[in-house]
Amino acid sequence: MVNFSKENFAKLSEYVYRKSGIALEHDKHFEKVNKKLVSRAKDLNLENFRKYFFNLRFEDKDGKEFQELMNAITVNETYFFRENYQFEILVKHLLPEIHSKKQKDEPIRILSAPSSTGEEPYSIAIHIVENNIVVNERDIEIVGIDIDSNVIEKAKRGLFSDRSIHAIPKQVFNKYFTQKMGYNELNSDLREAITLSQCNVFDKEQIRKLGKFDIIFSRNMLIYFDDASRKEVAMTFYDMLNSSGYILLGHAEYMNRIVSVFHPKKYNNNLFYQK
Ligand SMILES: C[S@@+](CC[C@H](N)C(=O)[O-])C[C@H]1O[C@@H](n2cnc3c(N)ncnc32)[C@H](O)[C@@H]1O
Repeated sequence: MVNFSKENFAKLSEYVYRKSGIALEHDKHFEKVNKKLVSRAKDLNLENFRKYFFNLRFEDKDGKEFQELMNAITVNETYFFRENYQFEILVKHLLPEIHSKKQKDEPIRILSAPSSTGEEPYSIAIHIVENNIVVNERDIEIVGIDIDSNVIEKAKRGLFSDRSIHAIPKQVFNKYFTQKMGYNELNSDLREAITLSQCNVFDKEQIRKLGKFDIIFSRNMLIYFDDASRKEVAMTFYDMLNSSGYILLGHAEYMNRIVSVFHPKKYNNNLFYQK
């Protein structure tokens, strides 16, 4: 692609920011975005940035081109049992408490936003099954969402690299995985226990369709947003939570630096937040 200048990068960044909340930085993202644009422009036979950008804004009726761009930009790093203390908070503290208070016939709903390639929602499921505290008495629904459609497809396939499973204790791993074609395949019962869908946390319509949750895991996404976007997403999560619902963030993310509507709580000295 000719003429993908600093100015063009700024234009594209502004557009991406408005639609996804992701703040692109020239030094960090230029090479990656440039590479993607070169290959898309070639595929679509568009000879310059102006044509690509016009196509992205005005001719992308089904949103596929924007999806392609997002899939190239997102950082999807994740692994099973990452920041495991939070799954411990979930099974030892939050689930028993919600179970004791919530009407018996209502499901407990947990959202993983963003789920990336699925390791987070599947870790939640494994912890729940392993602890076997509430599952026999009521339904627990686990929903995973991510803006990147490729990672959602990968999550559904349930095939994981050795790196992705490295933090799972061996005896737990042996119960839920089998080796297949050089990958570690999660068993189908667990795969079917999770609902996964592509969803942008800034897209109000997509978010509304997900319904309300008792617990939200939102780890290692807010760090990619600027202050205004973080606030917007934090308030979206606030609205998505049932009253007294809980939210857990990544270890470098602090809700009280974003909005003050949640109450900070601690379990074993680890922070989480309550509506
Ligand atoms: C680093 S991963 C975090 C995965 C997992 N929560 C964890 O902590 O291991 C960040 C994910 O955020 C997703 N993401 C970025 N912006 C998003 C948005 N606006 N809506 C939904 N997901 C988004 C990316 O696609 C990426 O998969």
